[in-house]
Amino acid sequence: MRLDKAAALAGLTRSEARKAIAAGRVRVDGQIARDAGMQVDPARVRVDGAQPAEAGELYVMVHKPAGVVTATEDRRFQTVVDLLPEPLRRRSIGPVGRLDRDVTGLVLLTTDGQLAHRLISPRWKAGKVYRARCEGRLTDGEVAAFASGLVLSDFTARPAALEILEAGEAESLADVTLSEGKFHQVKRMFAAVGHPLIALERRRIGSLALDPALQPGECRELREDEVAALKRLCELD
Ligand code: URA
Repeated sequence: MRLDKAAALAGLTRSEARKAIAAGRVRVDGQIARDAGMQVDPARVRVDGAQPAEAGELYVMVHKPAGVVTATEDRRFQTVVDLLPEPLRRRSIGPVGRLDRDVTGLVLLTTDGQLAHRLISPRWKAGKVYRARCEGRLTDGEVAAFASGLVLSDFTARPAALEILEAGEAESLADVTLSEGKFHQVKRMFAAVGHPLIALERRRIGSLALDPALQPGECRELREDEVAALKRLCELD
């Protein structure tokens, strides 16, 4: 394959790929390559140090900070896609589900529409785990209420697991696992049992855990084993 075509697999147009080559941003086997027409094995090409994905799907986890919206573009706020490095941002990648602007933690972005669809659907049982800090002392009463399916004003939540980690007079800390993701669902569930949320962080989507090494605002591509585990969970393997 021609070098400019191989470099364009990073999500560049052919002319952008040629400019990247002229600027010395493209390497073949670690050496800067300047001949856009040279024949190369695309697996040996790196653009800005990254391997252009040969029509492969892209899977990226983001540690979303507060203040960033879970969208591909927004006029007012920074989006989770804005947090990706330039070559990844150019692929048609989108978030799997949403977190509210004030909610932090794991957001998965992918070009793989089928996996995204199954991870959102309750049918495939990819539980989402949230760490919640709330007002007041949580008790076994709330654990039972969450497990039995809370009745909210416009829907009845599916049974959810609540694990109390700290129960103090003023504040409590708990992990809650949901199999669905309705608008403001966790906030509404805690409010419904009289414990408004103070902070909420998503820690897990199915088999995928937020990498503790990722600081808020950072992202990384998923490892092969992480992608394989998600596909297994959604019966796409
Ligand atoms: N529940 C909420 O209330 N907000 C989120 O962002 C995710 C789950």
